Amino acid sequence: MTTRRKLVVGNWKMHGSHKANAELFEGLLDAGPSNADMAVCVPFPFLSEAAVALAASAIRWGAQDCSAHEQGAYTGEVSAAMLHEFGCRYVIVGHSERRAYHAESDQLVADKAKAALGKGITPIVCVGETLAQREANETEAVVKRQLSAVIHTLGHCVGEMVVAYEPVWAIGTGKTASPEQAQAVHALLRAQLQAATPQAGAMKILYGGSVKPDNAATLFAQPDIDGGLIGGASLKAADFIAIGRAAP
Ligand code: PGA
Repeated sequence: MTTRRKLVVGNWKMHGSHKANAELFEGLLDAGPSNADMAVCVPFPFLSEAAVALAASAIRWGAQDCSAHEQGAYTGEVSAAMLHEFGCRYVIVGHSERRAYHAESDQLVADKAKAALGKGITPIVCVGETLAQREANETEAVVKRQLSAVIHTLGHCVGEMVVAYEPVWAIGTGKTASPEQAQAVHALLRAQLQAATPQAGAMKILYGGSVKPDNAATLFAQPDIDGGLIGGASLKAADFIAIGRAAP
């Protein structure tokens, strides 16, 4: 059986300031080693701060979006090449907030993932159903459709991405998917990846949606849950560190 080291990634969303970041980085650095690989995905203007603060630590950093285009007349966009210059290891693509508020299609998300990989940055591709879709028994169809666009676009590189299952109804709501509910979807995603790449067994599938220090261990104990994508709880150093320590 493949053992996959857990990965715990903070998604700061649109939070932070020089002052708050300095405190947060200090808290993360003071905490010492974690059982999991750790990373924080910060707003673009704070990437250089993250790079300086975390350079000597084991914590990696990344962004929350990137353009599907290489360069050009795309006002407001940030390219994967730029992220690479800031030392980004990861970039989140297709977060449900971007799909919902910026009308990102499955294909656009897949193109962004491809652009990231082209610059050596690991895309963390988010998939997940809304509450209405879950209630209509559409969870499987929705996540499969979202993942399939990425699988087709990445081709033989598919094994290099990280997938994050984030049920939209669990994000920022305090309603976590139960470990069994999450595991069931993770197993579906793993099976879909298995049909696409021999590397599927080594790929990380993260769970995201109201992960907290007190529920992380049971989620991470599930066989196909390889870590977490953490929103609110990543803004408090003590909570984020505790989630990292919840990894077996
Ligand atoms: P949450 O957010 O942990 O605050 O629910 C997770 C996410 O949106 O990535």
